[in-house]
Amino acid sequence: MTDRIAIARRARTRLPPGWAIAVAVLFLLMSGFVAHSARLGIGGLIADLSGKSRFYAADAPIVTAIMFLHMVTGAALTLLAPLQLLGAVRRRWRGYHRWAGRTTVGLGAFTSIGAIVFALSRGTLGGPMMDASSTVYGLLMITSAVQTYRFGRARDWPRHRRWGWRLAVLVIASWLYRMHYVVWDWLTGGIWTTPDVTGPFDVFQLWAFYLSYLALLEAYFAWEGRRRRSARLARKPAPRPIRGRAPAVGGD
Ligand code: HEM
Repeated sequence: MTDRIAIARRARTRLPPGWAIAVAVLFLLMSGFVAHSARLGIGGLIADLSGKSRFYAADAPIVTAIMFLHMVTGAALTLLAPLQLLGAVRRRWRGYHRWAGRTTVGLGAFTSIGAIVFALSRGTLGGPMMDASSTVYGLLMITSAVQTYRFGRARDWPRHRRWGWRLAVLVIASWLYRMHYVVWDWLTGGIWTTPDVTGPFDVFQLWAFYLSYLALLEAYFAWEGRRRRSARLARKPAPRPIRGRAPAVGGD
């Protein structure tokens, strides 16, 4: 019996922990998008894609370069940001966490600024609504990146952690945006969508792909805060019984 328990324990310790499996699955799912983004980005930076990609405008080389670079930095960001959340990685490789954190913040800021410059100067496929949603998305990402860095420097770990999660959720949302279309197409054949991204589902998507996940995250933080407060109250020692003795000094 004891042998069987020992064997089961040994087998369990040989399995990778749950978080490692979850992150590996997430990376596997995101790999196609990351590869597409890096490939298209590098392609637009080194070759003339006139007529092949609507992001390529030979008469606007700077914005074109910024936009294709945005795809490359976005791909790197999608790989780096989720790893920053892992406690085991943070504890074991502190130096890596710090440097990857700084890189993530820089990539987040550049990816967002690049796309905002593109949306506001050249305009997106979806028109003003998509320009607006992309700009808000980018501004939220820049805010999350800056706040994560600021609170890390200030060693305010609870806030650093919360802003880090917001940043990672926003980064993953870029992939989720594409995934929503895959699932929607599969479920409905793509109703309420149009090629110029102005259908009812498109417009809902433009905002929901990041705001809905941020709202869920905030709900989780609120629930976590309540649970911590009640655990603290439960741990507080009961007040000592008052003995019939007058206070030594300062009593009424
Ligand atoms: C987080 C990592 C990101 C990755 C990997 C990424 C990748 C890409 C790629 C590959 C495209 C080309 C379209 C496509 O082939 O799907 C694109 C377009 C675009 N991205 Fe990003 N992006 C990221 C973040 C952002 C952010 C933060 C913003 C917001 C400012 C943004 C706004 C845009 C816009 C406005 C377009 C052009 C949309 C259009 O006109 O069709 N992206 N992105």
